[in-house]
Amino acid sequence: MNRDQAYTLMTQMLQNKNLQKHNLAVEAIMRALAKELKKKHPELSGEEFNEEEWGIVGLLHDADYEITGKDLTKHTLVTEERIKSLGASEKVINGIKAHSDTIKSKRENYLEKAVFACDELSGLITAAALVRPDKKLAGLTTDSVLKRFKEKAFAAGAKREQILLCETELEIPFPEFVKISLEAMQGIAPKLGL
Ligand SMILES: [Fe+2]
Repeated sequence: MNRDQAYTLMTQMLQNKNLQKHNLAVEAIMRALAKELKKKHPELSGEEFNEEEWGIVGLLHDADYEITGKDLTKHTLVTEERIKSLGASEKVINGIKAHSDTIKSKRENYLEKAVFACDELSGLITAAALVRPDKKLAGLTTDSVLKRFKEKAFAAGAKREQILLCETELEIPFPEFVKISLEAMQGIAPKLGL
């Protein structure tokens, strides 16, 4: 399964444009994290940080959100069935499942840990852009996102403790994690409509 097939499937499964954009945001962050972690871990095989695979995990992580609705015990399993027939690897399938700790509570590699932490951060960054007068990502800075993070009532649904796992599970300091993610989203701002 390549990126084009994953994109086509995601847009077929999701009607809501904001959900499509959320998956695109997580794709961009996942690709940036793969690049970054590959640099930090020359001792590991480059295959561990295959950017295309990391991107596809981000792109499809919430693809069945409209189909499974509020039933978190099924979320990602519909996607799993669909992508198996497209020849998706176990690594990609497990990565998608790992963003939901209801489905897969044990995160076993960097890819699985990355999608779990950045999923929530992407929501916080989107919310931080939307409260700006211009509603754009362009003027948003790492510091302003860090400030929003500390406001508990701001984007309260974005689970802070899950985002902070970047430090223990990815060994990326939190401000750096925000910077990488923000820049990744800014890089595709027109696609995100932000
Ligand atoms: Fe998500």
